[in-house]
Amino acid sequence: MSGHRYYDRMRGGETAFTVAASAVKIGPGVLDELGEDARRLGMRRVALFVDPQVARESFFAGALGSLKQAGLDVVVWSGVRVEPTDRSFAEAAAFARDGAFDGYVSIGGGSTIDTAKAANLLATHPDSLLAYVNAPIGLGKPVPGPLRPHIACPTTAGTGSECTGVAIFDLTERKVKTGISSPFLKPTLAVVDPDTTAGLPAGVIASCGFDVLTHAIESYTARPYTSRERPQGARPPYQGANPWSDMGALRAIRLGARHLERAVADPADGEAREALMFAATLAGLAFGNAGVHIPHAMSYSVAALKHDWQAPGYAMKGAPHGVSVVVNAPAAFRFTAQAAPARHLEAADALGVDIAGAGPQDAGPLLADKLIAMMRATGMPSGIAELGYGEADIPALVAGAFAQRRLLVVAPRAVAETDLAAIYRDALAYW
Ligand SMILES: NC(=O)c1ccc[n+]([C@@H]2O[C@H](COP(=O)([O-])OP(=O)(O)OC[C@H]3O[C@@H](n4cnc5c(N)ncnc54)[C@H](O)[C@@H]3O)[C@@H](O)[C@H]2O)c1
Ligand SMILES: [Fe+2]
Repeated sequence: MSGHRYYDRMRGGETAFTVAASAVKIGPGVLDELGEDARRLGMRRVALFVDPQVARESFFAGALGSLKQAGLDVVVWSGVRVEPTDRSFAEAAAFARDGAFDGYVSIGGGSTIDTAKAANLLATHPDSLLAYVNAPIGLGKPVPGPLRPHIACPTTAGTGSECTGVAIFDLTERKVKTGISSPFLKPTLAVVDPDTTAGLPAGVIASCGFDVLTHAIESYTARPYTSRERPQGARPPYQGANPWSDMGALRAIRLGARHLERAVADPADGEAREALMFAATLAGLAFGNAGVHIPHAMSYSVAALKHDWQAPGYAMKGAPHGVSVVVNAPAAFRFTAQAAPARHLEAADALGVDIAGAGPQDAGPLLADKLIAMMRATGMPSGIAELGYGEADIPALVAGAFAQRRLLVVAPRAVAETDLAAIYRDALAYW
């Protein structure tokens, strides 16, 4: 079970992986240094992105003060939409284009950080949003070059967007979530201050915590980078599991297992929130390098097709990102475990499951059962049926998930539309 054999080399197969990570500064109080960080990166006129809720938090006022004290000309954009859409991205891009900024700062969850990435892209290399969106939904035009410097300050322990090259949004008209992906979208610097999470509601901690765990488990169970053909040109942004992403993924799974239920049960538990914040960044580094696969691919239609469910702790209706992913995860891992049982057992072990005497056929059930127990303990919905989906919705769910080609190719086994339908069916209700 050492995992070494996972990277056996194949004739003509990939032999190398790359690591291109955002710089990271992490620890309580680092947000106070924001102004100096921005100045050191050469920023003079800064676009500061925030959502209306975070704009009211005291740490936001402190960060704004730090930027001003450093002599920077700062303009705040508080029009960020939680779970952004093509329209909210376009509004942010218009603000960025009109403002002639030479630097970007985002303070908030993944919604805010992704909005700043998109605005920076569309103001620096103007084109339509869909031009840059992954094919087949968009045109898949490569980002032509570097963007302006961007400091991302996460305030949820969740997406890891502060160190990924991805920006996700809801393409409202087509009822599908999708995104832009390029190494140039990676923020220049991640300023990760766990003190910012003191006011996070339990429901947000839970949803974001499962985003962290699924990032980590999907990275760890992704197909090995050695299983791709060696590319002629650039390597894909999602390279598959590799020894570097494994380190962050395994550590993030362990931290999440130990602290997620604790932080949800007691949002005042600062130690647990700090551990989750570190896990979120580690998992972001891992999945930004290795990729995520089936649970995330399936989440995009779960999040986009129906908006009736009310998540605890959220103002808006509909399944927030972490919820929309974790509801698919047990069923998806039951499916993928057959292709990489040792990896799934190791993930279960890192989650705290006793795997002594377990065989390959136990890998999927052990991992799935542990996740289901954690979902029950943290108030997650019992499956996609609780979010309003039934058998009749499965074809539409499958169509949305099957379009996420860049994710599905990272799965450890090939996945057909009929497989996705079976996994959605398995995800209707776990208890
Ligand atoms: N780019 C990536 O790599 C990546 C990865 C995963 C998910 N995402 C995307 O990120 C988005 C989700 O981001 P998220 O889960 O971080 O949350 P979020 O940005 O959607 O925010 C969730 C809620 O928490 C509130 N909030 C945030 N910080 C707070 C704080 N410190 N105190 C009190 N309230 C606070 C927000 O106002 C909002 O109501 C989705 O659109 C998802 O698709 C992106
Ligand atoms: Fe995610």
